[in-house]
Amino acid sequence: MKNTVKTILKKKGAEKIAMITAYDAMFAKLADAAGIDIILVGDSVGNTVLGMKSTVGVTLDTMIHHTAAVARADTNALVLADLPFCRAHYSFDSLLDDCRRLVQEGGADAIKIEGGAEIADKIEKLVNAGIAVMGHIGLEPQQVLKLGGYRKFGNSDAERQKLLNDAKALESAGAFSILMEMTAGDLAAEITRSVSVPTIGIGSGGSCDGQVLVCADILGLSPRAPSFVKRYADLGAIISAAYAEYVSDVKSGKFPQE
Ligand code: KIV
Repeated sequence: MKNTVKTILKKKGAEKIAMITAYDAMFAKLADAAGIDIILVGDSVGNTVLGMKSTVGVTLDTMIHHTAAVARADTNALVLADLPFCRAHYSFDSLLDDCRRLVQEGGADAIKIEGGAEIADKIEKLVNAGIAVMGHIGLEPQQVLKLGGYRKFGNSDAERQKLLNDAKALESAGAFSILMEMTAGDLAAEITRSVSVPTIGIGSGGSCDGQVLVCADILGLSPRAPSFVKRYADLGAIISAAYAEYVSDVKSGKFPQE
């Protein structure tokens, strides 16, 4: 059965939500067959598959291209596309048009937007226009240039209060879910208890309503995965060995065999 915003909302308190990134139809099909609830076409496509240093260089056209590839896998998983760097801070008309393109041209079922209370008014208008929105607070990787790196959020009282307010503002704006990245575990638990929509955590402890990880990190395809990641396979080693055997077979004439 196709996951929708409605089925995801119903999972809060009933069952944990499993979310993973994918950037093409091949990996989307594999994730879907495993029973993943939400496939995130993350702007992490920049640093995982496009060779970029961060997500900052990822454009809207790139996101539409990869979202369309995932959508063509025709998954039961809800297809969630990231809105790229800065675009939530343009005018509402421009933001609405970006989301429209991700939905109409990319085939996204919903859009994830980094930011809290400061963009809640725009999210409310997007939801009114028919766009399903997941918020993203805590570490917002698109802020890396301003932050000068990646770090945990929610360690000071002021930051905890701000994140609680952000979550409440996103809930009131009509976001169907809130992602919390690298947020102190006890704060993520408190936010999860205080909002009616499901929370999805990454590096934010085990109390969220669901978890998301980057596919390359759990599959052993990233040169460096964050410390909170559990690696479920070492595909990097398997692929390297297979390529080396192929090269050797071609060079030696072992493949192809007449
Ligand atoms: O782009 C992405 O993969 C993300 C996850 C880190 C949540 O936003």
